[in-house]
Amino acid sequence: MSNSFTLTNISQLVTNNSAIGDGDLGVITNAAITVTDGIVSWVGQASDADSSVPKTDVGGRALIPGFVDSHSHLMFAGDRSQEFAARMAGVPYSAGGIKVTTDATRKASDDQLRNVAKSLIQEMHESGTTTVEIKSGYGLDVATEERSVRIASELTDEVTFLGAHVVAPEFSSDAEAYVDLITGEMLNACAPHSNWIDVFCDRGAFTTAQSRRILEAGVAKQLKPRIHLNQLEQGDGIAMAIELDCASADHLTYLTDEDISALAASNTVAGLVPGADFSTRAPQYPRGRDLLDAGAVVALSPDCNPGSSFTTNMPLMIALAVREMHLSVDEAVFAATMGGAISLRRDDVGHLSIGSKADFALLNAPSYIHLAYRPGVPLISTTWKDGNVIFTKGDLA
Ligand code: NIG
Ligand code: FE
Repeated sequence: MSNSFTLTNISQLVTNNSAIGDGDLGVITNAAITVTDGIVSWVGQASDADSSVPKTDVGGRALIPGFVDSHSHLMFAGDRSQEFAARMAGVPYSAGGIKVTTDATRKASDDQLRNVAKSLIQEMHESGTTTVEIKSGYGLDVATEERSVRIASELTDEVTFLGAHVVAPEFSSDAEAYVDLITGEMLNACAPHSNWIDVFCDRGAFTTAQSRRILEAGVAKQLKPRIHLNQLEQGDGIAMAIELDCASADHLTYLTDEDISALAASNTVAGLVPGADFSTRAPQYPRGRDLLDAGAVVALSPDCNPGSSFTTNMPLMIALAVREMHLSVDEAVFAATMGGAISLRRDDVGHLSIGSKADFALLNAPSYIHLAYRPGVPLISTTWKDGNVIFTKGDLA
């Protein structure tokens, strides 16, 4: 017996399918959506909805695909608020702060790590996110990296092994020996719980040559590669990332014109994380406008982590992308939904078409434009994942 429901009186339904609605966001006005067994079974004009299916009137509000957060660091313990305060007083951000979190993460129990991640995922649901990628990377030893990816795999299908976040403190005078550990024993322990491998290729973390070694070892273990790149300086890793078919290259605060052309001609998504640029007071934001003009695919993510960007809030990223990187509102909403899905190489999320997962968020607003127009305002009324309510303010119907 199938289980169906319809949401009706949707002022704007963002489908991200230009074949069924207006513009690149495929917007249908005065819309309805029907869900059957957790999957979208129909979208269209409210007046055309099947009258035999039970209906909920959402009161003329906008409905969007759930946000797809393709970059988060939720497996950690400890607090770095003092580091943030010091940074705002002028201390520069560096990759070295990761080691502060490493001490606390190694000491934390499985339950403590699980509870931190769960409460951050709950925050994500409250701001409309329905799919999340979770990285390890604060253990930096075999046991804690293994615990991190194992617990992450209880919470999401998109688990990334990031043992190569920074050189572990025990190996500070021999980075190559740490790369040996990552590509050997640590990878063997973590690969069974992961589907992605990532590396922080930047000043104070790993070189391009080390990053290549790490990603190639992961690929040999059937992990798909993604990369942190050019957050702290203009590096030379873009060609390597593209050559290895990284699904995404993330941060990209520093990019040359050649980098932009190469990304645009590749299958590697440009993952922009403006929360990190905001919270580290980076000298500039990534060249989002130039990337889109060149034809690159852009994904947006809050990059939630305890050091450079301790926020889970995708609407804030949309507001920053529009205000600081000159994306249109439509481009930013697309990047936060479909862009994230492309970054994770998923075709079942990030859009609302017949057959897609019934993952969506209802806004307390008549238009999706409010996501950028009302920065900092908690606009999400209700969030559904697989057709089930995972968050509601209780103001639905
Ligand atoms: O994505 N860039 C590398 N990793 C994190 C920050 C890690 C930290 O400072 O704890 C990021 O910004
Ligand atoms: Fe990150």
